[in-house]
Amino acid sequence: MTITLLSHEDLDFIMHIEQTSFSAPWTRKMFCDELDGNPFASLLAARNQGVIVGHVCFWVIFEELHVMNLAVHVDHRRQGVATAMMTHVIALAHEQGANVAMLEVRTSNTAAIAFYSRMGFGQIATRRAYYSNPTEDAMIMRCVDLQSENNDPLAGGVTRSRQHEVSPS
Ligand SMILES: CC(C)(COP(=O)(O)OP(=O)(O)OC[C@H]1O[C@@H](n2cnc3c(N)ncnc32)[C@H](O)[C@@H]1OP(=O)(O)O)[C@@H](O)C(=O)NCCC(=O)NCCS
Repeated sequence: MTITLLSHEDLDFIMHIEQTSFSAPWTRKMFCDELDGNPFASLLAARNQGVIVGHVCFWVIFEELHVMNLAVHVDHRRQGVATAMMTHVIALAHEQGANVAMLEVRTSNTAAIAFYSRMGFGQIATRRAYYSNPTEDAMIMRCVDLQSENNDPLAGGVTRSRQHEVSPS
C-alpha cells in the first residue's frame, strides 16, 4: 500500500468512497475547496496496487492536527488501511510542529470511535446536535503527546503503545 497526495483526478473514486461511507458525505466542491483554497489542508489517498482504498483530509494549524475526514472503502476495512493513514498523518503533522490531534465523530459511529481509541484518542467533550442528516451529537476526541509517535508502519512499523486519554463528556 502507498499513501500519496490526493489530486483532482482522484475525486470520482473518492466521491464513491465518501457516498458509501457517510450519511452526510462531503461534496466534490468541499474536496475542491480543501485542495485549492485551504493552505492548512492536506489530502492523502491510500492506494492498493494503484487503486484508491481510502482517503484522509487533515489540517495542521500551529501545534494542532485536526482530522477533518477519513474513510476506507467498504471492501477494504479491517485490513489496517485507516491505521496506516492515521499513523502517517500523525507523523507528517508532527514534522510540521503539531503536538496534539483533535477530531469530531458521530456518537453512534462505534467503528470509528473504536478505531480512534485504538489510535490513542480519548473523549474530551460532546458537542450537542453538531451533525445533520440525521441530527446527532459529536464526540470530540483528542490525542496528546504526538511527539511520542515514531511508528509509521509504512516506514518499517512498530506497534502502538500510547496511553488512552479518557475524560467525561
Ligand atoms: C472507521 C474506519 C475509517 C476504520 O477503517 P479501517 O481501515 O477498517 O480500520 P483498521 O483496519 O485500521 O482498524 C484498526 C482497529 O480499529 C478498530 N476498528 C476498526 N473498525 C472497527 C469496527 N467496525 N468495529 C470495532 N472496531 C473497529 C479495531 O480495533 C481495529 O483493529 P482490528 O481489526 O485488529 O480489530 C472505517 O470503518 C470507515 O471508513 N468507516 C466509515 C467512515 C467513517 O466513519 N470515518 C470516520 C469519521 S470520523
